[in-house]
Amino acid sequence: MEATIVSEKSKHYPVLLKEIISIISPQYGGTFIDCTFGQGGYTKEILKFPNTKVIAIDRDIESKKIADQIEENFEGRFFFRNNKFSQLKNLKLKNKNIKGVLFDLGYSLNQIKDNKKGLSFNSYSELNMRLGLNDFSAKEVINKLESKDLQKIFKHFGEEKEARKIAEKIASVRADYDIDTQNLVNIIDSVKKNKNFKIHNSTKVFQAIRMFVNKEITELINGLIHATKILKKDGILAVVSFHSIEDKIVKYFFRSLSENKSVSRYQPKLIQSEPLFLMEQKKPIIPSKQELNENISSRSAKLRFVRKKRSFYNFDTDIFEKFKFLIDVENISNKL
Ligand SMILES: C[S@@+](CC[C@H](N)C(=O)[O-])C[C@H]1O[C@@H](n2cnc3c(N)ncnc32)[C@H](O)[C@@H]1O
Repeated sequence: MEATIVSEKSKHYPVLLKEIISIISPQYGGTFIDCTFGQGGYTKEILKFPNTKVIAIDRDIESKKIADQIEENFEGRFFFRNNKFSQLKNLKLKNKNIKGVLFDLGYSLNQIKDNKKGLSFNSYSELNMRLGLNDFSAKEVINKLESKDLQKIFKHFGEEKEARKIAEKIASVRADYDIDTQNLVNIIDSVKKNKNFKIHNSTKVFQAIRMFVNKEITELINGLIHATKILKKDGILAVVSFHSIEDKIVKYFFRSLSENKSVSRYQPKLIQSEPLFLMEQKKPIIPSKQELNENISSRSAKLRFVRKKRSFYNFDTDIFEKFKFLIDVENISNKL
């Protein structure tokens, strides 16, 4: 699921980088927004082209250290904010000429390797899973929510078949002690007796908790909406996703606004039937064989992009209704 891998030699592989660059054409200059700065893989590549500027955000404060170095080398051409997708509107860029907005979703191997973050089932730490700027951690989720709610999270965000049994076991064990990362791995192992050799027993539950703690559904939806508002006409919105729920959301947003029915009630009737986006390619772009050889972690990456064809700031989208069942699961956090 991780987009970016640091190999033994610590080489950094930004996923689908060549493809992203060919889609956004920084050789002609322009201002781009990198919404998932991470280690700056996309940003650094864009800044190699003269007459480009990058405004980058990342919710993880660790990214700021790398951003500070780039800011020194590219004074006036690079700006970083420790923000979430849902805070994109605070950048107040409505009138700037934004040529491209990029999202490389998920988390990097650096973040998985950070024991304190507790993203990996190999971590020996308190449950955490916060990427940054969160309201609560995995510790509160696992030790406080009712087993019925945990079941919903594991089922809908992780597509975990044993969701009920795992949730019930958690609720019974935590009466005796606070559950940490390794306790959780052991609980899942004890329920899923038959090991699946393709994926680790804990993969789905860990994905579900990470999505819940980081509110990944509403973050993504709000990110897509704000990004669309910021973009200039003919600008590109490109998203790399890593699991099926993310991809479904991105695909729906792009497709629904590329159809004639997606109109703005603020526009005169004559042009109402013109779609907001042009989808130049319906199928997602996936990593080449060469990229897979160099970085196997990129195997589930899917890149989709659209070109904004109208300069609408306000537009209608039914994406919140469409994914209401997932947002309802996310809203279980109101009980914490
Ligand atoms: C896969 S990494 C990006 C790697 C980057 N493209 C590079 O080449 O270095 C994803 C990054 O997105 C950040 N992120 C995830 N969700 C976010 C959100 N809602 N708001 C801001 N940043 C987010 C993570 O902290 C992580 O650094």
